[in-house]
Amino acid sequence: MEGNTIHKKIKTMKIAILVGSLRKDSYNRKIAKEFMRLAPNSMQMEIVEIGDLNLYNADLEENPPQSWKTFREKIKNSDAVFFISPEYNRSIPGVLKNAIDVATRPPKDNVLMKKPAIVATASGSGISGVAGNMAIKQSLIFSKMRILPMEIYIGNMLSLFEDDGKTLVEDTQVFLKHILKEFEDWAEKTS
Ligand SMILES: Cc1cc2nc3c(=O)[nH]c(=O)nc-3n(C[C@H](O)[C@H](O)[C@H](O)COP(=O)(O)O)c2cc1C
Repeated sequence: MEGNTIHKKIKTMKIAILVGSLRKDSYNRKIAKEFMRLAPNSMQMEIVEIGDLNLYNADLEENPPQSWKTFREKIKNSDAVFFISPEYNRSIPGVLKNAIDVATRPPKDNVLMKKPAIVATASGSGISGVAGNMAIKQSLIFSKMRILPMEIYIGNMLSLFEDDGKTLVEDTQVFLKHILKEFEDWAEKTS
């Protein structure tokens, strides 16, 4: 006689995080680390650095720089990509756009192609990067990324931490966990 089958989710999802700010004390990096801390074991999140990528130049494709090869390999090996970035001049920071450009070339080897994606923008002000968020999403359409259809703007960063400047306030922890759950479900459905 067959017993009840319990379906356990055994797959761990590998998620590459791209942070659109190189600043040492970046709010976006700080929030990225909070997402990593709060993520369930089923979401294995890693920040993939983009600051040392050579500026995109198609002439280099004949013998691609090591920085491009390593970066492309890391994105290729991930199941999904998490973009978290400030808005610069109402658009996407150059360093993040460069990373997207490097990832998408040559088109036949586009490592972003059809991967699930999430886009969040964070800033110290209340504006929280709405225009930058849209600009990032626009840059992902060519790659047919499965972008989580959710608006994630994280503003007034200083108010999200307790007086020690390190501990996220409870409400924000709940909000970040909710986002992670939405993204995990979305990525499973769209991979
Ligand atoms: C070049 C530049 C352009 C910026 N443009 C905007 C902008 O368009 N909208 C906005 O809300 N903040 C803008 N800011 C402020 C950033 O949102 C703010 O510095 C933010 O904290 C940067 O993110 P980070 O803390 O992760 O480095 C700009 C900052 C820089 C350096």
